[in-house]
Amino acid sequence: MNDKERIITAMSIKEDEDQSLRPQTLDQYIGQNDIKEMLDVYIKAAVKRKEALDHLLLYGPPGLGKTTLAQIVAHELGVNIRVTSGPAIERSGDLAAVLSSLEPGDVLFIDEIHRLPRFVEEVLYAAMEDYVLDIVIGKDHESRSIRIDLPPFTLVGATTRFGDLSAPLRDRFGMVFRLNYYEDSDLEKIVRRTSSVYQNEIEEDAVQSLAKRSRGTPRIANRLFRRVRDFAEIIGDGTIDKKITDHALSKLGIDDHGLDNTDYRYLKAIVEKFSGGPVGIETIAASISEEITTVEDVYEPYLMMEGYIKRTPRGRMATEKTYKALGIKYYKGLFDK
Ligand SMILES: Nc1ncnc2c1ncn2[C@@H]1O[C@H](COP(=O)(O)OP(=O)(O)OP(=O)(O)O)[C@@H](O)[C@H]1O
Ligand SMILES: [Mg+2]
Repeated sequence: MNDKERIITAMSIKEDEDQSLRPQTLDQYIGQNDIKEMLDVYIKAAVKRKEALDHLLLYGPPGLGKTTLAQIVAHELGVNIRVTSGPAIERSGDLAAVLSSLEPGDVLFIDEIHRLPRFVEEVLYAAMEDYVLDIVIGKDHESRSIRIDLPPFTLVGATTRFGDLSAPLRDRFGMVFRLNYYEDSDLEKIVRRTSSVYQNEIEEDAVQSLAKRSRGTPRIANRLFRRVRDFAEIIGDGTIDKKITDHALSKLGIDDHGLDNTDYRYLKAIVEKFSGGPVGIETIAASISEEITTVEDVYEPYLMMEGYIKRTPRGRMATEKTYKALGIKYYKGLFDK
């Protein structure tokens, strides 16, 4: 199964693009309190001084609210946001075009910023530091470099792969924030907010049930909510209670731990094919026919956070929790021959 087909993938699928669910202000943005508090101060200070906000880098697993936060920052600053992404900027001319269209104070949001081509990145350095654009025109010995002034602007970069960012680029951000997986209590608030946006009644124990299975990820909470709502409307009167929620979730193949078949396929591979590890990521990825980056960015972070696997210098290892989840009795020396 392709990860995009998973109901609990953290990656965005088409139906997730429901703008009505996106919080518009810092107040509406639930959780990530440390980040919110700091942003609030910096934004107010920038507004007061009538200056552009310092450049901001947001990183963390998919679906935790990086794009949402970028939009909120622009909204709170009262400026426009231009949205682009690393892979969309193929030539330095593409970047020059976006940069020169900015108004003073605007936010330029570059999603997947780790995928910017290196020579484009180099143009970005001077733009970030001095608000100038150095471009080379003409060819060979005819070529000369010209410098164009840019309005002060704020670059908001987002990435799921902080480690893939070059050091010079990282260093040019005045603020670097890592978004963390959400606590259940925050996910509960998000589920309640979604139910009020959609005007669906939801009972409190159903809220908890949904939050618990959302893998710390607002995008998943909202997606599960929509699916459960479908069940509630077809087999009930639209009210979402625990019974309907649990029924819907089990139909969707999500168990009490919030794990699905894909998680089990991955965990089983480590336990059954590689005796619980340690096993290298390349080997696991190949054994379940997946891309290494998908395994690393999408499958593993949640399983690691929950303690189903641990990373060791020699590779991934299953933990006692994994054996429990798989229903295998674990004892020391299980795999000793
Ligand atoms: N703090 C939050 N409070 C309420 N809802 C949120 C919050 N963060 C995210 N969401 C919801 O989750 C959805 C996904 O968030 P968003 O698209 O911002 O994630 P992302 O980090 O940019 O993901 P990706 O890495 O895939 O680009 C949003 O559309 C929004 O509805
Ligand atoms: Mg995003």
